[in-house]
Amino acid sequence: MNYRLINMKVFGDERGKLISLEGNKNIPFEIKRVYYIYDTIPDFERGKHAHKNLEQIIIAIDGSCQFVLDDGKRREELWLNRPDVGLYIGKNMWREMRHFSYGCKLMILASEYYDEKEYIRDYDKFIEEINTSF
Ligand code: TYD
Repeated sequence: MNYRLINMKVFGDERGKLISLEGNKNIPFEIKRVYYIYDTIPDFERGKHAHKNLEQIIIAIDGSCQFVLDDGKRREELWLNRPDVGLYIGKNMWREMRHFSYGCKLMILASEYYDEKEYIRDYDKFIEEINTSF
């Protein structure tokens, strides 16, 4: 499975906590894009796509949600619920996000600019692409 959880170093003292994210250092790629998801509600799922050529790190800055990760052979679930843990997702991984807490805030760092053409939004097509590329 082309994903892993990364523990971020926390600089904390009596004033609060701080985490620094740096491309090609604690983030394993050059960061070309940052976006965030907020104002979430539990009833709706997001994601349901894969990327042909994109790496991402997702951090639940606030709140929680569940991720489903699927490489075409196996399907695994995990919860993101800590601002000091990043979920790295590499290429060719189907992902679904669900069970958002109200007002969950996800920050996503991406290795490429937004390009709708490199999304695979159909699960059957994803399986087809996986089977033809290996
Ligand atoms: P979408 O892919 O549906 O979000 P999610 O992965 O959370 O399900 O994206 C929602 C909309 O935002 C869609 O119209 C595409 C647009 N969008 C951009 O314009 N730039 C971006 O960097 C991203 C991630 C999405």
